[in-house]
Amino acid sequence: MLATPTNTSPLTKPTRAKLRYEDITFTSKSQRQAVEEIISELTLASAALKNIKDHFILELKKGLANDGETIAMVPVYVSGRLDGSETGSYLTMDIGGTYLRVVWVVLEGQSQVKILQKKYKIDEHLKVGEAKALFVDEHSIIASFETEIELGFTFSFPVLQTTINSGTLIAWTKGFNSLGVVDKDPAAFLQDAFRRRNVPVRVAALLNDTVGTLLAHAYRHSKTVIGLGLGTGSNGAYIERVDRITKRRTVDETGAADTAEMVINMEFGAFDSERRVLPVTMFDNKIDRKSLASLYFINPGKQIFEKMIAGMYLGEIARNILVHLIDRRLLLDGRCTKEMNTDWAFDTSYMSTIEADTTLELKDTQLVLECYLGLAIPESSATMATTLTDRQIVKLVVELVGQRAARLSAAALAGILEHTRGVTWSEDDGGVDIGVDGSLYRYYPGFEADIRGGLVDISQLERDMGLAGIDVDVVRMGPSIDGSGVGAALCALLASTASALQ
Ligand code: BGC
Repeated sequence: MLATPTNTSPLTKPTRAKLRYEDITFTSKSQRQAVEEIISELTLASAALKNIKDHFILELKKGLANDGETIAMVPVYVSGRLDGSETGSYLTMDIGGTYLRVVWVVLEGQSQVKILQKKYKIDEHLKVGEAKALFVDEHSIIASFETEIELGFTFSFPVLQTTINSGTLIAWTKGFNSLGVVDKDPAAFLQDAFRRRNVPVRVAALLNDTVGTLLAHAYRHSKTVIGLGLGTGSNGAYIERVDRITKRRTVDETGAADTAEMVINMEFGAFDSERRVLPVTMFDNKIDRKSLASLYFINPGKQIFEKMIAGMYLGEIARNILVHLIDRRLLLDGRCTKEMNTDWAFDTSYMSTIEADTTLELKDTQLVLECYLGLAIPESSATMATTLTDRQIVKLVVELVGQRAARLSAAALAGILEHTRGVTWSEDDGGVDIGVDGSLYRYYPGFEADIRGGLVDISQLERDMGLAGIDVDVVRMGPSIDGSGVGAALCALLASTASALQ
């Protein structure tokens, strides 16, 4: 699972120290050829990005038109824009990754908030065990309230929302497989858990993390129409105009006017599971195929886009490539350690360290290989642990995997921007804000810069083709602060405002 470096402030972006291909000292022709093959498989030129973006738009439109499409495009019953003046106090809870987080949020108005939070690590056995254990675990922090409290519940998995505080789980992702929850309402599990413990809390809103990301950003930046989650998993939410959600069933029930707006949880991690446009390599297929047998149950055949771009998978893709080179005796002299042979042992956080390595000798890369991947050799031995060429190739592979993830994320973002342009934002009216959260975005060196690079490439190519490429200068991405706390509180507030109006 993606770990976050402790020495990096969330707002200071680590920079990537890019390796120059010309600087790699290949030791044989076959080694050079093998590396060139990998470069060509993992590099995405502008035309490929544009093609992916175009297909993404087609698929998202299908999702707006019908239930059960690959990109689910779930209307989440959250409407109305925020202006930062909203006030209130809410409890929030978040299940979706490494931690269960409980936050008391005070929205003070003028875009100001105060929070008090408690975090619990979710043990691996809880992720795949009895549902009761996952939902009931460690809620003692809220047991002391005397009057009923409203809670915003962030549940970062694909849920088909039926009201603002209920829905059914479509499938687990990101290594969770708690029993008996698929097709059921996660909010009801939580509400039951509170009831059993006599905790006076009402689940007022059920939301996806990307919806929280969008709302939390909108509280501070009123031109926000998109929220992205780029961390262990990947997804996006955006504000849609109701008349464009042509699968009207859910929306009709709310009686929303055509010109009204509603947030859509896209669940774009499932994009192109048919593999029509994504440049899926044998290394991606390997992850997908073996996923049933691995420690994590990660939906073989599904979430293919997420498996190419999310933090949970990037280290494993890089490991697959490195093992492939080792097996051909083109790397590390064919030595494969127990760690390198272990599924998921190459943590994505190692990639961050390697990406940021500025030393000529690639000392930090060496440290990762020796300390974490078992490549140290006893001092008594005459053999070198790793050569500079080995480390250069490792760094290059890591860069290719990281950059591909960022550029693919850019294709999705470009698709959402194009689809919403002139409808919920416009270039002539102050541009657009995008709230982003997730460990890749916050901590992975160069990730945001590469996303911007991808956006610019697509736009430039379109302009060269005489098309109206987006003006990337008015597209502002920024870290959304505390989507699962502040965003969930705002969602609970919108839920109570909506029910007060009914
Ligand atoms: C889930 C999404 C979630 C994303 C980011 C994906 O695996 O399907 O619901 O938003 O991860 O947490």
